[in-house]
Amino acid sequence: MSTDIEATAERIHEALRSAPTSSPTHRALHAKGTVVEGRFTPTGQLAGRTSAAHLVDGSTPAVVRFSHPGGDPDVSDGVPSARGMAVKLRTAQGDHDLVAVSSPAFLVRDGESFLELLAARAPDPATGVPDPERMIAFVEVHPESLAGIQAAMGAQVPVSYATLAYNGLHTFFLVDGDGGRRPFRYSWVPVGGEEFLDTPADDVDLAAELVERLAGPPEGTAFDLVIHLGTADDPTGDPTAIWPERPVVVAGRLQLDRTAGDVEPIIFDPTNVTPGVDLDPDDEILQLRRAAYGRSFAVRTTPRI
Ligand code: HEM
Repeated sequence: MSTDIEATAERIHEALRSAPTSSPTHRALHAKGTVVEGRFTPTGQLAGRTSAAHLVDGSTPAVVRFSHPGGDPDVSDGVPSARGMAVKLRTAQGDHDLVAVSSPAFLVRDGESFLELLAARAPDPATGVPDPERMIAFVEVHPESLAGIQAAMGAQVPVSYATLAYNGLHTFFLVDGDGGRRPFRYSWVPVGGEEFLDTPADDVDLAAELVERLAGPPEGTAFDLVIHLGTADDPTGDPTAIWPERPVVVAGRLQLDRTAGDVEPIIFDPTNVTPGVDLDPDDEILQLRRAAYGRSFAVRTTPRI
């Protein structure tokens, strides 16, 4: 990995950790979350398209962490926002991590823009709240960020972590047995459909809701892994770009069935893929994520006395 990526990831990580609500014993982002377990069972529809056996047959144990995206571990679940869903498939070939958010587009397409965005939305020292003029100025220079910012502004509070669709946002490649590559994106789509709260109360508790839901019908805690099959012309290297509608296949179903035991410390890293799935070499954000998540993990797992 280039030192530029490492240096930029360090600056971003430091900026995130400088927030007053950041906690050194928690993640620098997605600090508040809850972990459950389940199994992923493929439909077989990716047969011939990838050599990744766990995406074609059998069934694979999964660890799943749902989260609020901010760096404050004490944030109220009633605060409207996108949410995160990090899935670790423990395959015989190593971990395949699918780390997604409920937004249709990421906010930025490179690290410098991310630093600019963090500065633009930081509280103004004079007023204690972000200055809207700075966000407007940011979008003028970065029109590619508009879709992600508008989605963030329009985000609602879900009924449950399990009533939201989550998107991988990056482009990946399916690699078949002959080495043929095809770009794809993926979404985790809740089998019972999406559902949001009309008037979120202050005491929304999505972790407790999930525990109750796990005792109910299995469809209430199941997600389909939907694969959007891209073409050679679809944009790569840019998670701010929303793909045009593409043919989809349902690769399989993730059935959540219990709360997790003691799995921390655990890291979900979107660059953890197995043979049969390739990363997009042009995607700076993906490389920055690997570096930044490693730094955040190192801080939160440092022994303290
Ligand atoms: C440059 C861009 C990004 C940076 C710097 C960044 C930074 C971070 C950091 C520092 C963490 C905590 C990692 C840990 O301690 O394990 C995190 C977690 C997370 N991020 Fe990102 N992120 C970026 C982009 C994205 C994108 C594009 C997505 C979704 C497609 C995403 C989804 C998540 C999720 C779901 C988690 C929680 C993982 C968990 O539950 O352990 N992030 N991010």
